[in-house]
Amino acid sequence: MALVSSLPSFFLLLPLLLILHQPLLSSANLYETKALFRSVDFSSKEDASNANEFISTSSNATLPPTRFFEVTKPIELPKTRPFTYLILQHDFGSTYGKPPVFANYTPPTNFQSQRFEKIVLEWTATCKGRQFDRIFGVWLSGVEILRSCTAEPRPNGIVWTVQKDITRYYSLLMSNQTMAVYLQNIIDSTYTGVYHVNVSIHFYPAEEKHDLGGGLNVDDSVIEFSSEAADLILPISRDLPLNDGLWFEIQNSTDVQTKQFKIPQNVYRAVLEVYVSYHENDEFWYTNLYNDYIALNKLSGVPGNGPFREVVVSLDGVVAGSVWPFPVVYTGGINPLLWRPISGIGSFDLPSFNIEITPYLGNLLDAKTHAFVFSVTNALNVWYIDANLHLWIDKKSAKTEGKLKEHETPPLTISTLSNIKGTDASFSSHISRIITSSGWVKSSYGTVTTKSIQVLNYTNFMVVGNEGNMQIVNQTIDYNDKVTVKMPSSSQMSFASLKNFPLYLYTDSVDQKNGTYNSVSNISRAFNEKKKLITDHGVAASSLRNLQQGESTMLVKGNLVLSGLGSTRQVYKYDDNKFCYLRNISSSNYTILHDKVRDSCSRKVQKLHLTNGLGHHLI
Ligand SMILES: *[C@@H]1O[C@H](CO)[C@@H](O)[C@H](O)[C@H]1NC(C)=O
Ligand SMILES: *[C@@H]1O[C@H](CO)[C@@H](O)[C@H](O)[C@H]1NC(C)=O
Ligand SMILES: *[C@@H]1O[C@H](CO)[C@@H](O)[C@H](O)[C@H]1NC(C)=O
Ligand SMILES: *[C@@H]1O[C@H](CO)[C@@H](O)[C@H](O)[C@H]1NC(C)=O
Ligand SMILES: *[C@@H]1O[C@H](CO)[C@@H](O)[C@H](O)[C@H]1NC(C)=O
Ligand SMILES: *[C@@H]1O[C@H](CO)[C@@H](O)[C@H](O)[C@H]1NC(C)=O
Ligand SMILES: *[C@@H]1O[C@H](CO)[C@@H](O)[C@H](O)[C@H]1NC(C)=O
Ligand SMILES: *[C@@H]1O[C@H](CO)[C@@H](O)[C@H](O)[C@H]1NC(C)=O
Ligand SMILES: *[C@@H]1O[C@H](CO)[C@@H](O)[C@H](O)[C@H]1NC(C)=O
Ligand SMILES: *[C@@H]1O[C@H](CO)[C@@H](O)[C@H](O)[C@H]1NC(C)=O
Repeated sequence: MALVSSLPSFFLLLPLLLILHQPLLSSANLYETKALFRSVDFSSKEDASNANEFISTSSNATLPPTRFFEVTKPIELPKTRPFTYLILQHDFGSTYGKPPVFANYTPPTNFQSQRFEKIVLEWTATCKGRQFDRIFGVWLSGVEILRSCTAEPRPNGIVWTVQKDITRYYSLLMSNQTMAVYLQNIIDSTYTGVYHVNVSIHFYPAEEKHDLGGGLNVDDSVIEFSSEAADLILPISRDLPLNDGLWFEIQNSTDVQTKQFKIPQNVYRAVLEVYVSYHENDEFWYTNLYNDYIALNKLSGVPGNGPFREVVVSLDGVVAGSVWPFPVVYTGGINPLLWRPISGIGSFDLPSFNIEITPYLGNLLDAKTHAFVFSVTNALNVWYIDANLHLWIDKKSAKTEGKLKEHETPPLTISTLSNIKGTDASFSSHISRIITSSGWVKSSYGTVTTKSIQVLNYTNFMVVGNEGNMQIVNQTIDYNDKVTVKMPSSSQMSFASLKNFPLYLYTDSVDQKNGTYNSVSNISRAFNEKKKLITDHGVAASSLRNLQQGESTMLVKGNLVLSGLGSTRQVYKYDDNKFCYLRNISSSNYTILHDKVRDSCSRKVQKLHLTNGLGHHLI
């Protein structure tokens, strides 16, 4: 069953070859399969027969559970006592291919006059035994509020908590909804880990003397410069009933998935929030080999189509926006020992991406049905994509009107250089994209013109060597969004988000000639974002630098890690002038080596008093 006739020991492919011997895991929707660095489970029955020092010490079931966590800034909360509701409690055993688990959601009662300043979703789970990392989603009446991945259990058990600020879903949270949770898990005699999950929501009332003009804030909880959450959120996801998640599944580069929707006729602003995750052959899309290389080396079953992916969102047939995803590594990815206990950036709370739809409102205010279409350039099986359409409604008029004035989406500019000499090769790709739209909307706030520009740049350098056993990927995505709003008063404001996602990955493998292989993986990647809000009254800015670096080794047999070592360090630095947070942490072999936190700004706090001209306070 050699994949390469000329090169039977072509190592990059070995994990792939071996996972295919697991018929259960080859099923189409299990994302662990068939990827170059597919997820591996860390402990198995086979371990017992392979007496191994590392396994025996790490498998002590009498030890207390390990707490996994993702490094992120704490949610800024008011000093009020929250009302907490346990919405769902469930044990996720054999859930694969079954309907999501449902719970009735009712908003807090007897607090009708109460305004909540923050609403926080809390996911807590425990698991014991053996299990892969599993993808899951949480939806409220079809609106996705969390995309995440489980942690891989250990024999002594694990526990982890994800807290997410869900204040931006305020309008949804103020009426009865159905919560759906889909976590695709499989239980059999080897994979025994059942996920015991609680989903709670905490409602923090506003402080009594909360000063709404307390300062300009570029917070994640609000949608950019609308400090008030949307009045209505429409699900752009698959309709129930489903024996699956509510996400659309994109299986290849020509696959398109469509959702029809209708909006009220008095909307004055619209933003589409897109959730994406990538699995199976595209779990590590940024490492996928170029097809020329695959053809020349006569490889088969290898994830290909090169390392570039773009999620394209079209509205009624025109490209309205694009998402170039951050490369999230799930908890079993590359080398699971890298993510214990510090999980990968974004793995417990996958980032969603906003696309400004306001310029197109003129086309959507006709009370007719319209369609969003999702596709993924170069996609391989499988991408899970859905979205939420956030709408702001003009309560003072029954009808708004608008017109799309400008819309330009020149094709991607692509340049790729390659140098292939047998199994040794190097490649470099540069890709860029610009999407521009502008349009006006006439509402009781007057005629407001909104211009949106997305500028995206991508570079990927890839080197393959050591007879195909070694791969280096050095990739950067620059992702810039800018929205400019012109008010009737001719005042102007703009919101810009500059994201930068550098990734460096080195992997090498050595065949031990006894059914095992040794691999080394080093990774460095960052989620950096600068946000800037400029109005006639002042400027607010925030900056996030979140850098994670790791080195790891592992001895692998089948899809099981027999032994190994992972070391990870991370520096998370956030600063918005009012709130600063720095965490510098490192771990090795499950142990935290150092952990320093600073949560105060060294500078003096500056306060600005602003409204956004549409009658909304900018916090
Ligand atoms: C497991 O841990 C307990 C408590 O730390 C210890 O007493 C016991 O010897 C350990 N067992 C093994 C097999 O290492
Ligand atoms: C879930 O909540 C119940 C009831 O409060 C509690 O007994 C249980 O330990 C919780 N489980 C988890 C995983 O937090
Ligand atoms: C919301 O759900 C609660 C509990 O099921 C029910 O008592 C209430 O009537 C519902 N409210 C609405 C507006 O349907
Ligand atoms: C792409 O995926 C779609 C949806 O599964 C399928 O109908 C189509 O045949 C696939 N196309 C190719 C070229 O594989
Ligand atoms: C994107 O690339 C182009 C051309 O290489 C360059 O001019 C531009 O400054 C880059 N923009 C960003 C945001 O990196
Ligand atoms: C990755 O490529 C960039 C150029 O885009 C270069 O500056 C950087 O040093 C490279 N990183 C590594 C680790 O080779
Ligand atoms: C395979 O060989 C390597 C080194 O040659 C050794 O460390 C490992 O224990 C062996 N594994 C098995 C399962 O025999
Ligand atoms: C990978 O990390 C190890 C351990 O820190 C280091 O010795 C090695 O030089 C690194 N290799 C590369 C290519 O980054
Ligand atoms: C993080 O901590 C390490 C170890 O104490 C130190 O060497 C490094 O300079 C720190 N990094 C930052 C950005 O503070
Ligand atoms: C990892 O930690 C365990 C104890 O938890 C220890 O027995 C083992 O030797 C360590 N491994 C390495 C490579 O340091």
